[in-house]
Amino acid sequence: MRVGILTGGGDCPGLNAAIRAVVKRGTAEHGMSIVGFRNGWQGVIDGDAVPLTRDDVSGILVHGGTMLGTARCHPHKVDGGIEAVQQTVADEKLDALICIGGDGTLRAASKVNKSGVPVIGIPKTIDNDVVGTDASIGFDTAVTIATEAIDRLHSTAESHNRVMVVELMGRHCGWIAVTAGIAGGADIVLAPESPFDIEQIGRKIRHRHRYKNFSIVAVAEGAVPAEGSAWDASETLDEKGNPIAGQVGMQVTRAIERITGFPSRLTTLGYVQRGGVPTAADRLLATRFGVAAIDAAAEGNFGTYSALRGEHIEMLDFDVMAGKTKYVPNELLQTAWGL
Ligand code: F6P
Repeated sequence: MRVGILTGGGDCPGLNAAIRAVVKRGTAEHGMSIVGFRNGWQGVIDGDAVPLTRDDVSGILVHGGTMLGTARCHPHKVDGGIEAVQQTVADEKLDALICIGGDGTLRAASKVNKSGVPVIGIPKTIDNDVVGTDASIGFDTAVTIATEAIDRLHSTAESHNRVMVVELMGRHCGWIAVTAGIAGGADIVLAPESPFDIEQIGRKIRHRHRYKNFSIVAVAEGAVPAEGSAWDASETLDEKGNPIAGQVGMQVTRAIERITGFPSRLTTLGYVQRGGVPTAADRLLATRFGVAAIDAAAEGNFGTYSALRGEHIEMLDFDVMAGKTKYVPNELLQTAWGL
């Protein structure tokens, strides 16, 4: 059996661990040949393939990013994209394609699968918003990095009597802000799931500063003000309607300083959250996802993706996640706010 593999969407720690697992398990256990595609779906469209052996993946377990490169490319949105993918699969004599990606890349994988190409998915995204799986590759590392950042911000907050705002990634969901906020002891957590009232935030901070001299505010980049708030959201979005990194954090910081009178500073963590060495949990998850995906390929279980369900890895149909988003549940939001 010949199996292709690609990584699409934003990079994250743990992608290489998943590639390694697919190559090692596929060659040793199933006697397969594995072919890597460079730069996500673009590489499949272009036929940009490279053979992958056990030697090629030796030592990559601990490396961040992806040895294959990545791109935000969706074949169904490119003229003739699906046909080009079908052609490459035929040219390379592939029996299956394994696609490691977030919701956008996996949605594309589902479309390609429906066109007759046998595809299997592996969910990765620091945003943790893929439906059906308890966690996606990269999320644990991002939360660990964000928590450490909040820990470190406490020093300056306390020493200078400041409000320290930290903006964390998450355009549509606040998984990183909420979980790192809880783990790091942030006093205020703002997530896209629940629009905020900046005047109320200001009142909370003023109240806290009667007995404490500092506050930490964790803000997801996609956090939005409640309807009717005096807030110009247009400055925070780019031409595609996506949040511009640092903009929501900056507006929140300025507003808090104006309302409370306390000196306030912003730290935008940005791509640091996606970089560097994966945590043990992400290496483990990526390896388990890789093994499950290549075993599914051997069994001919196509149109599915690996998912963590409690203690177990299961293969779910692409339809389970298609068009849906895994938002932060209310219980977690309440935990972040209720301390
Ligand atoms: O997909 C993860 C993510 O890190 C988002 O949280 C973030 O907004 C986005 O990617 C930005 O990535 P890029 O600038 O690479 O498109």
